[in-house]
This record gives sequence, C-alpha cells and structure tokens, in this order.
Amino acid sequence: MSAILPSSAALYDRVRRVIPPIEWPGFAGDIDAILDLKRQRNAVILAHNYQTPEIFHCVADIVGDSLALARKAMTAEADVIVLAGVHFMAETAKLLNPQKTVLIPDLRAGCSLADSITAEDIRLLRQRYPGVPVVTYVNTSAEVKSESDICCTSGNAKAVVESLGVPRVIMLPDEYLAQNIAAQTEVEIIAWKGHCEVHERFTPADIRELRESHPGVIVLAHPECPPDVVAEADFSGSTAAMSDYVERQKPPRVVLMTECSMSDNVALQHPEIEFIRPCNLCPHMKRITLTNIRVALEQNRHVVSIDPEIASRARLAVERMLAV
Ligand code: 13P
Ligand code: SF4
Repeated sequence: MSAILPSSAALYDRVRRVIPPIEWPGFAGDIDAILDLKRQRNAVILAHNYQTPEIFHCVADIVGDSLALARKAMTAEADVIVLAGVHFMAETAKLLNPQKTVLIPDLRAGCSLADSITAEDIRLLRQRYPGVPVVTYVNTSAEVKSESDICCTSGNAKAVVESLGVPRVIMLPDEYLAQNIAAQTEVEIIAWKGHCEVHERFTPADIRELRESHPGVIVLAHPECPPDVVAEADFSGSTAAMSDYVERQKPPRVVLMTECSMSDNVALQHPEIEFIRPCNLCPHMKRITLTNIRVALEQNRHVVSIDPEIASRARLAVERMLAV
C-alpha cells in the first residue's frame, strides 16, 4: 500500500525531496487538522526560515526572516496568529498586534541571544555611556526592548545604526553582529557579549575545508557568525538575504552557514542547485512541531501576553525600526 494518500499527495509534492515517503503519514494527519483549525479560528501561521519543511511549506501562511515576520505580522488579517519560531518573535508579533491572540506552541522556544541580556544590564550600560543611543537586536525580550531606543534585525542593522545620525551607538546583545556591522560603517559601535549558540560554532577552517572538498562552492554566512567566518564567506546577510542571493545569482553549488532547516527550505525551491549541508541545529527553533502547532490551535495555548507598560515602550522601539 502506498504511504501517500491521494488527499495529501499535492502537499507531499512540495517537500518530497527532503521528506522520505515513509515519514509522511506521521505528518499528514496533523497537517489536515491544522488546515481545518486555521479556517475555524481565522488563524494565520507565521513561520521563520528555520522551521522544518513540513511546517514551512505545508501549513505556514507567512514565511521569512525576523524582519519580514515583524512587518507582515502588522498586516495579518486574522484573529489568531500562531508563531512558528521562537519566543521573542511571538512577543514582537504581539507588540504589533495588541488586539490579536498570539500563540507560541512551546514556551521553551527561547534564544541564547535573548537570554544573554536583561533590562537591568541596559540601565547599567546607559549609566556607563550617558547619551549614547541603544540599538537592540530583535532577538531580545520585550522588557529589554522597552529599555532601548530602537530595534534592528540582521536585515536592517546597518541602516538602523546609520539612521540615528550619531558617531557612537550601543548595539546589543550580539557581539558578532555588532562587529560585522562595525566593519561596514563609520559609526563606532559598543557591543555586548551575547552570541548565537548556532552561528558561533562555525569557523573559518570549516569554510576552507568546504572550498577544498567542494570546488567552486559559494559560501553564504549569516551575520551572527564570527567576523572571521564572515570574512571568509562570499556573501553575508540575513536569512532572507541569503535566500534572495540564491534566487538572484543561482550559484550551481552553494553552502549556507546557518541553521539546518534553512537549506532544506531553500533547496526545495531550487532543485537545479546543489546545496552542501554542514549546518548547526537550533534547539529552540526545533521545539516547534506540527503536533504542538495543532495543540496550540485546539487548546488556545500558549497565549503571549506582555505587561502593558513594558509593551508600550517596547512597541515604540520596534515601530521606530520599521519606520527606517
Ligand atoms: P534572521 O531571520 O532575521 O536573519 O535571524 C536569524 C535568527 O537567528 C533568528 O533567530
Ligand atoms: Fe537564537 Fe541563534 Fe536559535 Fe536564532 S538560531 S533563535 S539567534 S539561538
């Protein structure tokens, strides 16, 4: 008997190159249920580029990098938003949609960058550097955002830093992103010591080995990678910028120095391109599964809520970013 039922064959077609037929029946029931629940509850699913292909290609309504998810969350025509990503993304969606129900399927979907800094740390930094504006990466809690002047993502960090028209900014919490942006601008950047546990593991030696074993490979690196890794790469940009690069340049052979699911998702759109796949898993992104998305919609959990006083200040920092 075939493992793929005719009712789900069209959806399976989208992911057949990365999901073996034997695994599909384990997904198909949840996918059917989620598609039904979305209609019943007038819900949309926002999925980050690091979500697994069965989520990204089969149930998500809106996909993208952190910046795109924040932008598109604002215009989502729905009563309920399910964030298939990590907690700070769900908080950002809630900040921009205070009237809507925002759900995160697993509260443990955190982020090593968000965990690296507190609101109190920012208050101390402001005492140490009076008058220097604080640019905060969206990979932070709403409370940290509420102490910031403006947010940024890896997709707009340089533009945000330069939009302030000052000689010096504090940029936190990602030390490597701050150093990578510092290399592209005249603005002096004071960094924090936070790191992404996924991207900090890549090394320049990894890239040199890849170039040796896969001649002609084009190397794309996320700017959360250490600066010496970015220096060895052919291109560096946010997850959306990497995806656009592949779309635009169509390199015959490419490697994405980032989270594992990203290559799967982009590769499905480009069967003609050879993707070399050394990658690191983000354990937080992988907390989100089809099953807990289904349960989130069935049981209305976990509802994201933010203290109104913190939310109003954090929203300002996100809105200033979106206006840049
Ligand atoms: P972007 O999608 O904004 O590039 O961010 C990557 C990331 O690590 C999000 O957790
Ligand atoms: Fe955080 Fe890194 Fe995971 Fe993104 S990939 S959620 S920055 S730990």
